[in-house]
Amino acid sequence: MTRPNLVRRKYHERLVLDIMEKSDAREDFRADVELGLSSSPKSIPPKYFYDEQGSRLFEQITRLEAYYPTRTEASILSDHGLEVIDAMGEAVTIVELGSGSSTKTRLLLDILAHRQQRVDYIPIDISPTVVTRFGEQLLADYPMLHIRGLICDYHQALDALKEEPGQRRLFLFLGSSLGNYHPHQATELLQEVRAAMADHDRLLLGLDLKKDPEVLHLAYNDPEGVTAAFNLNLLERINRELEGRFELERFAHKALYNLEEGRIEMYLESMMHQLIPIKAMERSFTFRQGETIHTENSYKFDRQRLENILGQCDLKIERQFLDHRQWFSVNLIAPL
Ligand code: AVI
Repeated sequence: MTRPNLVRRKYHERLVLDIMEKSDAREDFRADVELGLSSSPKSIPPKYFYDEQGSRLFEQITRLEAYYPTRTEASILSDHGLEVIDAMGEAVTIVELGSGSSTKTRLLLDILAHRQQRVDYIPIDISPTVVTRFGEQLLADYPMLHIRGLICDYHQALDALKEEPGQRRLFLFLGSSLGNYHPHQATELLQEVRAAMADHDRLLLGLDLKKDPEVLHLAYNDPEGVTAAFNLNLLERINRELEGRFELERFAHKALYNLEEGRIEMYLESMMHQLIPIKAMERSFTFRQGETIHTENSYKFDRQRLENILGQCDLKIERQFLDHRQWFSVNLIAPL
């Protein structure tokens, strides 16, 4: 890959990072927050949850009793991982969108370790710290592993991967992260994945399913309050990075299931009328009592919803694996 904004850093014989410089991450954050808080209704894109503190809180969420998706997806991968790898047939390279701690990836690496003398793993993540920290742990556990981390956003990574045909690739997009995109953005993203795929490549897509609203409600309103802290961290991040003056106790976490839309919606609700200065914008924002900032949608899927999206991306479901309660699906997806 030769790109003008690419920096290659070699941490280890088997761990290389390709870092694609982002124009100006702080300025993007500032501009998106300013736009979102000036809009009516107010909103902030969920991608800004994941600074260091937010990523830590999200890791905690995945271990909560109430938050079933991570555990359920892992159970599907341990029950059906072999079938997935068998379906791929020949040797594979693993490409993972939003690798995080790569915990679930290990379930596939365990299988590949017995089949391939060398496994190439390409995690895509915006945080070099995350990829090096978890990458080093993976290298210690899997001697056959070679990691090339792509440190950039998905668009840049998928664009770069287009030019790299070769060994059969299994793209992983797990954790129902696609559910955090509005359906038309989800379609655009999968179109980009499709454009990066050769005909013999496959996508393994983990999606949370529609279910009893009470189960969903509890998963986003855990009694321990970790999801609330995760949501409120967005305001702390504005305070830290943009010199905002949010007082966290004056806002409340709110998550509800919108049955018609088939999605969880998360908000931060102002508990009183207040004026919040944000120094990096040299202005203040007024909040009415009860006014909300919409911080996240988490779409829940059924087969129809998935097929509607795939139909617009030249992709089809080749195999679908579910857990025994049918709460989560892992989909092996192929080009049409
Ligand atoms: C990352 N994403 C799939 C999570 C979800 O369930 O939508 C983010 C999350 N938000 C609150 N809890 C977890």
